[in-house]
Amino acid sequence: MLTQAQNDRITRVGPNQPAGRLLRQYWQPVALVDEMDALAQAGKALKPVKLLGQDLVLFRDEQGQYGLLDRDCPHRGADLAYGRLEGGGVRCLFHGWLFDAQGQCLQTPGEPAGSKLCTRIKQGAYPVQVAGEIIWGYLGELIEDSEGVRKPPPLPFYDCFNAPSTHAFAFKGWWSCNWLQALEVGIDPVHASFLHVYFEDEDPSSSYGRQFRSASSDSAMPMTQVLREFNQPDIRIEKTEWGQRLITLRHISEEQTHVRVTQTLFPQAFLIPMSDEITITQWHVPIDDENTYWFTMFTSYGAPIDKAHFRNMRLKTYPAPDYKPLVGRQNNYGFNVSEQLRDTYTGMGHDINVHDQWACESQGPIQNRQREHLGTTDKGIISYRRMLNQAIDQFEQGQGVALRYRGGAVPETVDGVGASGEWEGTWKRLADRRFEAAPWRATAQSESETEA
Ligand code: FES
Ligand SMILES: [Fe+2]
Repeated sequence: MLTQAQNDRITRVGPNQPAGRLLRQYWQPVALVDEMDALAQAGKALKPVKLLGQDLVLFRDEQGQYGLLDRDCPHRGADLAYGRLEGGGVRCLFHGWLFDAQGQCLQTPGEPAGSKLCTRIKQGAYPVQVAGEIIWGYLGELIEDSEGVRKPPPLPFYDCFNAPSTHAFAFKGWWSCNWLQALEVGIDPVHASFLHVYFEDEDPSSSYGRQFRSASSDSAMPMTQVLREFNQPDIRIEKTEWGQRLITLRHISEEQTHVRVTQTLFPQAFLIPMSDEITITQWHVPIDDENTYWFTMFTSYGAPIDKAHFRNMRLKTYPAPDYKPLVGRQNNYGFNVSEQLRDTYTGMGHDINVHDQWACESQGPIQNRQREHLGTTDKGIISYRRMLNQAIDQFEQGQGVALRYRGGAVPETVDGVGASGEWEGTWKRLADRRFEAAPWRATAQSESETEA
């Protein structure tokens, strides 16, 4: 149970809030490359975005360079989201002032000839980079390097950034709730034995692209059966350089144990296995205090990803351009009582995204943690909140930013079955097997070593 003040401290995202200040010190997903490509095709790669409660405009100029600027024009405050994309930047409709991707004002065309006004005008601008099919923005403090140049920190060294485009796919969706409860649903390994239960298993081989629908590694048992039948898992938490590792053990029999290894990537992502080949890295990005975009990155360690299949499947429930779900509070999440009796635990269909959305949103716009009662199996959430509070303390006291992961060991994900006495060896072997199978991984690793 938290007090109101403790809850506000870890949930609120504005620039003057403790969690908001901390989250700004990490790169944040701003948009999908896919959605900017679609806008470019329609004529103009420019859109308003809201991130951490700030109104911004994202655009791609004629040279292909991305800009992320404050949305209100520094002349007299008109909306740059309607601007013209031309002349090497975005031009305000009101009086034609032109700003480049760095926010520099290039022209003030209505001012008298010879005016030098524009040289003194700079719009708020934020560093941007593209990685893993996502455009990332950085709203935090710049860091001075050894030559005195002020720069954003590098992106963390995760496989989801290093996989080639053929083996990576990203998508996003809107949830109407605070970012922290969205992340906490993902950290929680127990809910899959309830919320996502199906009463019948289907053939795992026909489940491409669907979480929990494949079989566990080295086992013929469908994941759905493991989750349903073994619902009192034993959870171990280990602190890591990137956050925490969760090892969830389901003891199937004297001889066999199911091991699931998932990760919390501080401050706001989780990493989980989707199948033997594919992992999911999901970021929970505050739009404002009460709305969140999840950005999901699919990374394949095996065959190339069938992007068209993934994209079409997800656009059916989260249509562009806002990626707001078609199923939600407005239609009771598709709830159907006879389905709940016969087919699924929720009665809300087979799409686990809908289940998770219901779990997040039904806690309210910002979960009231004064009324919660955490149990033993919530230990991943407890340890994550402790980490978050410590990182906030550290930053507020001027002692730097915690857990900005730069590489070395790589976060593992596993879903497998092994001999009960040797579950530790089992998951490490399965994690290594996944890494070694990736056709692109050795190159990414050696490039990073040369860089460093
Ligand atoms: S308000 Fe934007 S140019 Fe005048
Ligand atoms: Fe879930």
